[in-house]
Amino acid sequence: MTQATARKSDVLSAHARDEIDRWLGRYPADQRQSAVLAALREVQHENGGYLSRELMDGVADYIGMPEIAVYEVASFYSMFELRPVGRHSISVCTNISCMLCGGDDILAYIEEKLGIKLGQSTADGKFYLKKEEECLAACCGAPMMQVDHVYYEKLTPDKVDEILDKLE
Ligand code: FES
Repeated sequence: MTQATARKSDVLSAHARDEIDRWLGRYPADQRQSAVLAALREVQHENGGYLSRELMDGVADYIGMPEIAVYEVASFYSMFELRPVGRHSISVCTNISCMLCGGDDILAYIEEKLGIKLGQSTADGKFYLKKEEECLAACCGAPMMQVDHVYYEKLTPDKVDEILDKLE
C-alpha cells in the first residue's frame, strides 16, 4: 500500500482549494502567482480573519510560489492580518475629508463605546478596531467607516450604535 506524502497545502480546506482553482483558471498557466491575493483572502476568511504562517505556507505550496513571496504579499496589503483579531473588523477613516467632517470624533466614540484603542480587539473577540492610514475612497460620504466588507457613510454616534449593536 502506498502512503500519500504530506504536503503543506494539506492544511487548505476543500472549499479554499476550489476557490483558488477558480482564480487560477483566470490566469495563464505560467502566472499562477496572480491568484495569491484571492487565495489569501479566502484562507483568511475561513480562518476567522487572520493568516497563520502554516496557512500562508499552504497557499505557497498550492500555488507553487516561494513562501517568502507569499509572506511579502500578506505583510504588504493592509487587508491581511497576521495575528488573531476580533471577528468584525472596523476601519474608521480619518483621512482629510473624513477628518474635516468629524472622523476623529467618530473614532473616539467607537474607542469609548468598545473600550479599546486602535489596533486592539475587544476581550470577547467580537470587534477589531483596525488601524487605517489611507483614504477609503468614499470621501463624499464622510465621515465613514468600513465594517468587514461593508461601507457605512455620513456617520453619527447614533448611526454607529445602530450598525455595531446589531452585529452578532
Ligand atoms: S478621506 Fe475618508 S473616505 Fe476619503
